[in-house]
Amino acid sequence: MTTRSVILGTGSALPRRCVSNAELAETVDTTDAWIVERTGIRFRYIAGEGETTATLATDAARRALAAAGIAADAVDLIVLATATPDQTFPATATKVQAALGIDDCVAFDVQAVCSGFLYALSVADSMIRTGAARTALVIGAETFSRILDWEDRATCVLFGDGAGAIVLGAEQGSDRGILATRLHADGRHNQLLYVDGGPSTTETVGKVRMRGREVFRHAVVNLAAVMNEVLEQAGVSADAIDWLVPHQANARILDATARKLGLPPEKVVMTVDRHANTSAASVPLALDAAVADGRIRRGDLVMLEAMGGGFTWGASILRY
Ligand code: UT7
Repeated sequence: MTTRSVILGTGSALPRRCVSNAELAETVDTTDAWIVERTGIRFRYIAGEGETTATLATDAARRALAAAGIAADAVDLIVLATATPDQTFPATATKVQAALGIDDCVAFDVQAVCSGFLYALSVADSMIRTGAARTALVIGAETFSRILDWEDRATCVLFGDGAGAIVLGAEQGSDRGILATRLHADGRHNQLLYVDGGPSTTETVGKVRMRGREVFRHAVVNLAAVMNEVLEQAGVSADAIDWLVPHQANARILDATARKLGLPPEKVVMTVDRHANTSAASVPLALDAAVADGRIRRGDLVMLEAMGGGFTWGASILRY
């Protein structure tokens, strides 16, 4: 009988401090009108003292475990997607493991920037389907505010901090669960979206650099292609999709990709207005928001997609 990875629970966490566009415009040469018109962003959460990628990830994981009704010690795998780890090493996943009081499990980080959650999901799903794990925490968590150049208005207004988590469980012969995933990377575009530092080059952490217009162009093309691929792999048509949960980079990208798939805006989960772009956290944050408010229900067909630095991109279809 086929083993499937089923979402047993979702959770999320945001920093205490919410920052509006107007507040940002007090220190950055920008306006609420520009940010809303070009991106759809109105608010973002910014981590404060004591809040790190690991603390946000741990809070999100606790909520996902509570929603699933699963004890932390049942978790045998933690895959955490982040580009802003607490330390260069060890993996932030091991900090989450310790904070949750799990004595022994497999725990590691995945680095695919904004596509990180899709990559992490695919790794966890593969390990569950091969029997290497039975109960997995898959987390996307970021504190991008700490790698932003607050003098660069073209990037600093776009990002925010947060974390989202899901508990994945193995189910035999289930008609629910992850049906198909497609991932891609194209390393030729490194210089369009990157951080200008790193342990092995500058021995510093670096700051985010982006050529936004070019990233935008690639995002729309790549996302449309991978969404069609994953539909074909899952053997479903676009009109069977109940919910699209996209990476929340820019409302205009969300609109354009949904249009290419022929999906009406009511089927697209949009949180970019409240959370801004939280990189690897954005898909699980949006998923949890739509599960929590009752939009996504058991049995619904859900498509996840993301695109980010690398470039990396991917899409997944699951029956919730
Ligand atoms: O998550 C990873 C994937 N990332 C993305 O998908 C991001 C993709 N890119 C985008 O979302 C958009 O390209 C941006 C939102 C980043 C920028 O929007 P745009 O419509 O492509 O604007 P632009 O970069 O072409 O800039 C237009 C103008 C420029 O002024 P000039 O040269 O026309 O005089 C910028 O200097 O807007 C100016 N500008 C700003 N003005 C006020 C840039 N940033 C700001 C700002 N406030 N924050």
